[in-house]
Amino acid sequence: MPDVEEMKEAKNYHMDIPQKTDGFFLKGSNALDWGMKNRLARIFNPESGRTVMLAIDHGYFQGPTTGLERIDINILPLVPYADTLMLTRGILRSIVPASTNKSIVLRVSGGTSILSELSNEEIAVDIEESVRLNVCAMAVQVFIGGEKEKQSIINMTRMVDLGTRYGIPTLAVTAVGKDMARDARYFRLACRICAELGAHYIKTYYVEKDFETVTASCPVPIVMAGGKKIPEFDALKMAYNAVQQGASGVDMGRNIFQSESPIAMIQAVGAVVHHNETPEKAFDLYNTLKNETSTS
Ligand code: R5P
Repeated sequence: MPDVEEMKEAKNYHMDIPQKTDGFFLKGSNALDWGMKNRLARIFNPESGRTVMLAIDHGYFQGPTTGLERIDINILPLVPYADTLMLTRGILRSIVPASTNKSIVLRVSGGTSILSELSNEEIAVDIEESVRLNVCAMAVQVFIGGEKEKQSIINMTRMVDLGTRYGIPTLAVTAVGKDMARDARYFRLACRICAELGAHYIKTYYVEKDFETVTASCPVPIVMAGGKKIPEFDALKMAYNAVQQGASGVDMGRNIFQSESPIAMIQAVGAVVHHNETPEKAFDLYNTLKNETSTS
């Protein structure tokens, strides 16, 4: 208890300095509540405005994917170099130490497998789980043009409603059906629909032609999905092009954990995303780090 008699009389209210009212650094996110913003600021680095999300949720529909057979051995050493881990509650609880200070993006849609119609997902995790697990966002797959398009969109809007109640953002993941053209026209459509219906940020694929029209026409941040494994230089170039053309980072899986040197690759991706490193310099960094780790 402070001693009342000892209290100082002089106070300085800095009347001449107006209180700062900064805007929020993320595109389209200024009107969100404090908790939402705080969670997004744990996913996106406020200094660069971007994120390196490490996606390791593939097992939720395709089982032990190459590179993810033993997450304790293959993935945990990469965690220090990621801004965020995107994964399922099963892997989070069973393998990731609760002492981690990395932000978590939890996969909350599911219910299908590679043996069935993938768009037939539902919400597979209660909102209370996301609160309990202290996650920074919830990821829902959206299948625009897919067989269960409406069901997947409503999955997303339900999570937006529930997440808004608790201050947890929703990440819409645009899944491309087998028969869909992977072009800017399709991704403009898919991303804009997700944003209009309330997604707080959106994960989508990079396209060579007109990707900047996808980012420009989406009012909230876009993160680039990695896609299937390609040579390291090409993946770095794709990430570079995406962020230079308006993406707020990447959500990459196979191009990191299936790399010849995942620990070197995630650092090279980080250099491209957070420091605007060119693909050539980032590839040099990848090779240097790869050689260091193979000789240590
Ligand atoms: C797939 O649906 C999963 O959500 C992955 O998170 C996503 O595909 C990103 O991983 P990758 O970079 O391997 O495509």
